[in-house]
Amino acid sequence: MSDRIEPGGTIGIFGGGQLGRMLAEAARDMGYRTHVYCPEDNCPASQAADRHTAAPYDDPAALGAFAGTIDGATCEFENVPAAALETVGAAVPIRPDAEALSIGQDRAREKEFFERLGAETAPWRPVHRIEDLKRAVGEIGLPSILKTSRLGYDGKGQARIDSSGGAAAAWEAIGGRRLPEGAMRPFAIVERFVEFTCEISVIAARGLDGDIRCFEPVRNVHRNHILYTTTAPAGVPEAVAHAATGIAARAADALDLVGLLAVEMFVTGDGRVLVNEMAPRPHNSGHWTIDACETSQYRQLVRAVCGLPLGDPARRHDAVMTNILGEDMHLVPGYEADPEARLYMYGKAEARPGRKMGHVTRLTAKT
Ligand SMILES: Nc1ncnc2c1ncn2[C@@H]1O[C@H](COP(=O)(O)OP(=O)(O)O)[C@@H](O)[C@H]1O
Ligand SMILES: [Mg+2]
Repeated sequence: MSDRIEPGGTIGIFGGGQLGRMLAEAARDMGYRTHVYCPEDNCPASQAADRHTAAPYDDPAALGAFAGTIDGATCEFENVPAAALETVGAAVPIRPDAEALSIGQDRAREKEFFERLGAETAPWRPVHRIEDLKRAVGEIGLPSILKTSRLGYDGKGQARIDSSGGAAAAWEAIGGRRLPEGAMRPFAIVERFVEFTCEISVIAARGLDGDIRCFEPVRNVHRNHILYTTTAPAGVPEAVAHAATGIAARAADALDLVGLLAVEMFVTGDGRVLVNEMAPRPHNSGHWTIDACETSQYRQLVRAVCGLPLGDPARRHDAVMTNILGEDMHLVPGYEADPEARLYMYGKAEARPGRKMGHVTRLTAKT
């Protein structure tokens, strides 16, 4: 049996957000059909896909029916429950597989994974209860950041601790006080706040044949913990770029991953690269690749999932990608009127503050 999915085949996509929408568009351009599975109606991905199942992730009948219509599946959202992946994975390959996804769902497992790989992270400790947090803050120092182990995104589930008296408030802020007995442990991690000079990310692709191709590192600026701009190239020293790319490639290899792995990192003033987190899926900091690279992150993922040889990730232009959040919607007419602005809107009806509504990419000559 060939592991290849031929054009005309159907790729299942778990998750209904904009990453799934752009993935479905790339898949269609390459001759594939897509079937999106997510709990929400009329989500951004469903608008671009051939089929959509709107059902909860814990609905075995809906999952089974979904599996019967697809040739393979991938995730645009890493928090798909393990049981859902197991149900669908019994019928068709899921790429990346459940193991990579389960590590990507848990900050403590991510940190341990990168440490085993020999990559540096900010000093951190697992936190099961408030006593652990108080002790950990004494050990790793201040300021530090408390983060829920699971289900955090765009800075949600995080609280900064600036003084030793701040531990209790941070624990309260992330919901630690209301934890039921027997809740998932460790509930959180606490890590030292990094005085970074910049944040970068690398997206590695790994094919079914083990071939690895990395997009070059890009520089990310966050506003209120939400990605604001991505700039390519990152403008970091060659040694930093080399180290960052090596970490992402080694991680993809160690996971035996088939698909994409995005790794977010901090760069310090003395040129060290500290891993922040990873996501085994397309990444917001890879939107620029649609316009600026020989192969976009979305086409690269279709290639990996379908067992095709990976494409060339080379950058053909310099690029700046800017996210359009709910509070930025007044800027859209300006982008629409700007011939240099490549505008992508995600088809979301309601513009809430902090919600990603679209993005705009500007290209300049390659440096
Ligand atoms: N240890 C840290 N030191 C400094 N800044 C941090 C640290 N952890 C998180 N941040 C900031 O908050 C942003 C979001 O945190 P992150 O851990 O990436 O969570 P998520 O993206 O899942 O919300 C980071 O990109 C960074 O700007
Ligand atoms: Mg992040």
